[in-house]
Amino acid sequence: MYSKVAVVTGANRGLGHALTVALAKDGYKVFMIGRNKIEIDNASAKLQEEGLNVEGFEADVSKGRHITALASYVQSQFDHLDILINNAGVIIEPGGRESKVTCFTVNPDLVEEAYSINAVGALRMVQAFYDLMKKARQPRIVNVSSGMGTVSKMEAGWPAYRMSKAALNALTGVLAAELEDTRIKVNSVCPGWVRTDMGGPDADRSIEEGVEGILWAAKLPKDGPTGGFFRDGKPIAW
Ligand SMILES: NC(=O)c1ccc[n+]([C@@H]2O[C@H](COP(=O)([O-])OP(=O)(O)OC[C@H]3O[C@@H](n4cnc5c(N)ncnc54)[C@H](OP(=O)(O)O)[C@@H]3O)[C@@H](O)[C@H]2O)c1
Repeated sequence: MYSKVAVVTGANRGLGHALTVALAKDGYKVFMIGRNKIEIDNASAKLQEEGLNVEGFEADVSKGRHITALASYVQSQFDHLDILINNAGVIIEPGGRESKVTCFTVNPDLVEEAYSINAVGALRMVQAFYDLMKKARQPRIVNVSSGMGTVSKMEAGWPAYRMSKAALNALTGVLAAELEDTRIKVNSVCPGWVRTDMGGPDADRSIEEGVEGILWAAKLPKDGPTGGFFRDGKPIAW
């Protein structure tokens, strides 16, 4: 029997956790990836107690050797991967969503770190899982991006976050072109402003509302789009 398999990064809390629950309830075996062992073990153990088919794995998406070990582990259990959700992300600017940092005050080392997590992390994951994804029936990659990375409508502030999400969107475009002759579809999705630790309590969307557009892109049918940037299943400006 064909098993449905998914990998979700940043799954110990927020949108990644909710995506894990939704996919597991839909019959997927979900590998939950987190960079803190205790947190990902606790989160996965709780879901296992609820009867969900999930497994935690400690990996930091900014560390290549972690991602290689993760892919080997998944490959030891399955010969394919249906869904890869590159959800792990950070607002690295001091002060988070309240940050007053600008291009003139931001530490360039932090910008590099944001790139390594928010953009290059997704690239590392795609490289590591490409062989397994090629063997899936309807493989889908979702890069969880943000309207704050919209190059055609840039605004002030959060330079590391904005630049790294724009780079993530570029990755989506390059990948889609390179995957044109395969069954793998890849899209960027902005979840909207969501009440997570990152979005804060004043955000206008619940976590359940935030995950809907991501799940839509993760389960696109054969004639679904690839290489796009979406919110709520509708194209938005790059
Ligand atoms: N919330 C919003 O309003 C909003 C809007 C647009 C886009 N997004 C995007 O949605 C995604 C999920 O955000 P969220 O709102 O759920 O934020 P969150 O609650 O802050 O969760 C972020 C998750 O990413 C993980 N993470 C961060 N760096 C990592 C690394 N190097 N390796 C592995 N995992 C890492 C975090 O792990 P730790 O617990 O270890 O930190 C956490 O699990 C992000 O990509 C974010 O940019 C969110």
